[in-house]
Amino acid sequence: MRALLRRLRAPGTTFRSSATRVGRVDLIGGGPGPADLMTLRAHRLLAEADVVVADRLGPADEVRAQLRSGVLVIDVGKRPGHHPVPQAQINALLVDHARAGKRVVRLKGGDPFVLGRGGEEVLACEAAGVPVSVTPGVSSAISVPQAAGIPVTHRGVASALHVVNGQGPFTDSALSSLADASVTTVVLMGVAALPRLVGSALRHGVPADRPVAIVENGHTPQQRTIRSTLGAVLADATEAAVVNPAVIVIGDVARAGLLLPSPSSFAESTA
Ligand SMILES: C[S@@+](CC[C@H](N)C(=O)[O-])C[C@H]1O[C@@H](n2cnc3c(N)ncnc32)[C@H](O)[C@@H]1O
Repeated sequence: MRALLRRLRAPGTTFRSSATRVGRVDLIGGGPGPADLMTLRAHRLLAEADVVVADRLGPADEVRAQLRSGVLVIDVGKRPGHHPVPQAQINALLVDHARAGKRVVRLKGGDPFVLGRGGEEVLACEAAGVPVSVTPGVSSAISVPQAAGIPVTHRGVASALHVVNGQGPFTDSALSSLADASVTTVVLMGVAALPRLVGSALRHGVPADRPVAIVENGHTPQQRTIRSTLGAVLADATEAAVVNPAVIVIGDVARAGLLLPSPSSFAESTA
């Protein structure tokens, strides 16, 4: 009996009898790319899934190859400025399949609750009376800088972290963190917004020599890091033809050679 209760209480566990099948939705964090950066719980939930609703970023392809045969995979991947399946329709897909008795996994890039609209999906399930759980993932906000040898905090260099959505307005708090040398600012979805970001920061008095790193395709074989400064990054990003997905790191932790061994050995270890 105790074992049964434990099973019922364990996150992501659904009780089944021979007569009934209870559907549910499990949001899982897929991390920045490689499937072995997902949690064991995420792997278990994927192995139990009937339906997988997958994002573009994260380990979708690798995971697809590992699914049981017959699992329905629905690709709802968004690209900057191109959202083929609107959020309301994604919410409806999750709810409808769960109501049909299916185990639905919502595979999201990074962590579901970091600029991932995971909260909206939880609210949609709760409003529909569908059981829902969330399994955290390794967010690109921290792991993509790490892949390039950049610690987002480092004793004596930066003691706080501010994560910004590049598609939104640069709020007073974002500008204050940019101006504060003890804060690392990490911008997601920021490639298109780079000119606006740099203009706002310079106007706000952030020094032009503040280090900036742009890390493209972190934790993948295509990973590339562009190191620059606030004053030079627009020209450097244009010359390097920077593409999405990329994480922009602004702050002293982004300067080359902060860590030993040199940052290039971190990149090599992920390939
Ligand atoms: C919609 S946000 C989702 C963030 C996600 N929930 C997380 O915690 O990482 C997508 C943005 O994450 C960043 N991103 C995600 N994976 C990345 C990767 N492997 N390399 C570089 N940037 C990545 C990019 O800034 C991209 O535009």
